[in-house]
Amino acid sequence: MTRSLGVPESAAQRKALAEAIRRARDGARPIPARVEDIQLLALGSYPAVKETLFSFLDGNQPAALQQEALMSLKGFADPDLAKNLVARWRALAPGIRPGAVNLLLQRQSFHSHLVGEMEAGRITVGELNLDLEQRRRLLRESTPEIEARAAKLIGDGEYSNRKALVEQWLAKLPPTGDAARGRAVFEKTCAQCHRVGTLGHRVGPELTGMAHRSVEDLLSNILDPNMAINPGYISYNCETVSGELETGILQAESAEAITLLQASEKKVVIARKSIRRLQSSGISLMPEGLETGLSPENLRDLIARSMALQAKVRRLDTTIHAPVAERAAIGNPLVPQLNRLKAAFER
Ligand code: HEC
Repeated sequence: MTRSLGVPESAAQRKALAEAIRRARDGARPIPARVEDIQLLALGSYPAVKETLFSFLDGNQPAALQQEALMSLKGFADPDLAKNLVARWRALAPGIRPGAVNLLLQRQSFHSHLVGEMEAGRITVGELNLDLEQRRRLLRESTPEIEARAAKLIGDGEYSNRKALVEQWLAKLPPTGDAARGRAVFEKTCAQCHRVGTLGHRVGPELTGMAHRSVEDLLSNILDPNMAINPGYISYNCETVSGELETGILQAESAEAITLLQASEKKVVIARKSIRRLQSSGISLMPEGLETGLSPENLRDLIARSMALQAKVRRLDTTIHAPVAERAAIGNPLVPQLNRLKAAFER
């Protein structure tokens, strides 16, 4: 803990640190041993260890090393840390992004770097996926200058140019939709990436059981996919050493290879040694403009379909949990009824 006590490093400490750096970088050593070495680096001075720690913050490195390097960096307050971290944002793996966002928000002196990258468009508000608390850090708990700049980018909730489009469509949507009719639209426009009931592919989140979400919320997710990108589904661009480009959701990572998931559940496995560059695209794999060719009725039917199963199950659920007297009045055995509904839904 020399660093925190402000005691100058002794020659022995410098030697121990240099040794830890060498061991941490040694790819032939087992991962758990390297993790321990990275922990040791947290005790060094920032200039001495930064290069090594940042070299691990690459989507190409084993996840455990990335995670540990971020933990070790957390203890440093040098603004250069924020500058370096935001510069690498697109190369960060999904698993360490929430931690990286927290690190950047944790000190006011880091905020200007983050906001600067957002202003330059190198980090989008959508891909940061800030929760309310995190947005407040920039909007209310920073310096007046940062707060003003952040407000231009974030504004409590509305931060997208497709917001107006959502409003227009919302005004045109019929009050109710037909889940059965929605099936055909879903199959044509969405099934290559989503599943509802038994239909479709699991590339994006499963859309069954969306009844707890409002029509407006779902509409906004459909028309404005980049407003908030679910961190479990960040899209990556990968360039291989032979110059090929692949885009997809980073589905799996191992020490040897990564797997990108594309529409229709197509899996592309790329060996780590053949990766030249792996970067998040900053935009959702779900394209904007899906509403082209769809009518307000089509969209309302689609939404009805995503909401249907859960809505029915929920209604039954409340009857199951209804007071005994009410249940006696209902009379019917609920389980067969539920199964019939499910079967009807899946047809
Ligand atoms: C090329 C693939 C693709 C297509 C086509 C696509 N989506 Fe998506 N969708 C995704 C991905 C990936 C996500 C998750 C990332 C994100 O949040 O943007 C997503 C997210 C969503 C969400 C938010 C879900 C949540 O958990 O918050 C909704 C709702 C949605 N899509 C509906 C639709 C509908 C309806 C269609 C058809 C009109 C459609 N999507 C077409 C890939 C796709």
